[in-house]
Amino acid sequence: MGATKRSILIMFCALMLFRHVEASSSSPSPQKNQSQGSLDSFLYNYALNSIPKPRTGQVYEVSSPANFSGVGVSLLRLRAHSLWKNGANLSSIEIPPKAALPFPFTRRVDLVKQDLGNWSTSYYNIVPNYTLVAPVVGLLVYNSDAGPTSTRLVGLEMRGDSVITVSFRNVSLNQYDAASLRCVRFAADGTLQLSNVSGGGSTCVWRSDGHFSIFAPLNMKKNKKKGKESEVKWWMIGIPGGVAAAAVLVAGGGILWWWRSVRKMERIAERSEGLNSIWIGSSRMPTATGIRTQPNLENSYIP
Ligand SMILES: *[C@@H]1O[C@H](CO)[C@@H](O)[C@H](O)[C@H]1NC(C)=O
Ligand SMILES: *[C@@H]1O[C@H](CO)[C@@H](O)[C@H](O)[C@H]1NC(C)=O
Ligand SMILES: *[C@@H]1O[C@H](CO)[C@@H](O)[C@H](O)[C@H]1NC(C)=O
Ligand SMILES: *[C@@H]1O[C@H](CO)[C@@H](O)[C@H](O)[C@H]1NC(C)=O
Ligand SMILES: *[C@@H]1O[C@H](CO)[C@@H](O)[C@H](O)[C@H]1NC(C)=O
Ligand SMILES: *[C@@H]1O[C@H](CO)[C@@H](O)[C@H](O)[C@H]1NC(C)=O
Ligand SMILES: *[C@@H]1O[C@H](CO)[C@@H](O)[C@H](O)[C@H]1NC(C)=O
Repeated sequence: MGATKRSILIMFCALMLFRHVEASSSSPSPQKNQSQGSLDSFLYNYALNSIPKPRTGQVYEVSSPANFSGVGVSLLRLRAHSLWKNGANLSSIEIPPKAALPFPFTRRVDLVKQDLGNWSTSYYNIVPNYTLVAPVVGLLVYNSDAGPTSTRLVGLEMRGDSVITVSFRNVSLNQYDAASLRCVRFAADGTLQLSNVSGGGSTCVWRSDGHFSIFAPLNMKKNKKKGKESEVKWWMIGIPGGVAAAAVLVAGGGILWWWRSVRKMERIAERSEGLNSIWIGSSRMPTATGIRTQPNLENSYIP
């Protein structure tokens, strides 16, 4: 009876270990899209607090919020008329003249450019089979005049075939095949658009505001060192954890099996004299197979 209890306990522990491994493999995945909107309004409020009276037409580079070190925020307040007539230049995001008006229309707008830097993957999902190779930058348009900041978000309406140009000049993309790179736009409604890169492989053109970045297919990175960190972590936790859990399960199962077989054999032994053949049988028990396979798993998978 003690043996059964012990093996049940061992299996329970193995299950808990599996759960733990599962939890640690899913936690780094950046499923945080419900917080994207609150990050946007946090950064807008932060910019307005840093620059309480922005002068129209001047681009302000706001220093990173204390708890978002590495995030870049720029603020540009414009009259709609000026946005239309002259366009806007937020360095890496350019709106050409005679291209855009706020929609719904407002007389003045605040254009906010975000560069999420190393926070990008914490807020924006990776598309299956693709990996982010550039930071996420955002262009958000607010009505600068009315109401609480949380209700000021408007958009841009683009005329004809004019486009917003988003360039990732500072991002080194040489290691990727330019034809495999994809521009990505994360729209406010949670949908996602892909398009080809242009401008020698570091520029994206879009017909709307939103959040933008560049993806590369995951298999392009097979031999590159710069793998996604959370994945590396997953494998580092996942493989030894999985192997350990499997080992515990096999051992637990083996012990249970062994105990049952021993009981069975005892019962048979009580009834018959065929001791030899029974002991030959016991040497073929799965306990042995389980123990023999274990070191193989470890040797071939541990990095
Ligand atoms: C940063 O601080 C603001 C409030 O000051 C808070 O709303 C936000 O969640 C914080 N972000 C992080 C990542 O800690
Ligand atoms: C926009 O600004 C960047 C640098 O701030 C500059 O390199 C670029 O030429 C400007 N674009 C236009 C169209 O003026
Ligand atoms: C981004 O980098 C800054 C240092 O430049 C660091 O303080 C911050 O914690 C990093 N953010 C994340 C999400 O790793
Ligand atoms: C990802 O790639 C694998 C094989 O390369 C394929 O089976 C799978 O369908 C792909 N997933 C998506 C969402 O494209
Ligand atoms: C991009 O590079 C230029 C010069 O090479 C530098 O002045 C600028 O700060 C960089 N921008 C970012 C976001 O790193
Ligand atoms: C969040 O992401 C899920 C899929 O990952 C999507 O179905 C949902 O619409 C998104 N929600 C928002 C508010 O973006
Ligand atoms: C993207 O480029 C590929 C060739 O590199 C081309 O076949 C495809 O039509 C392009 N897609 C768009 C939307 O331009």
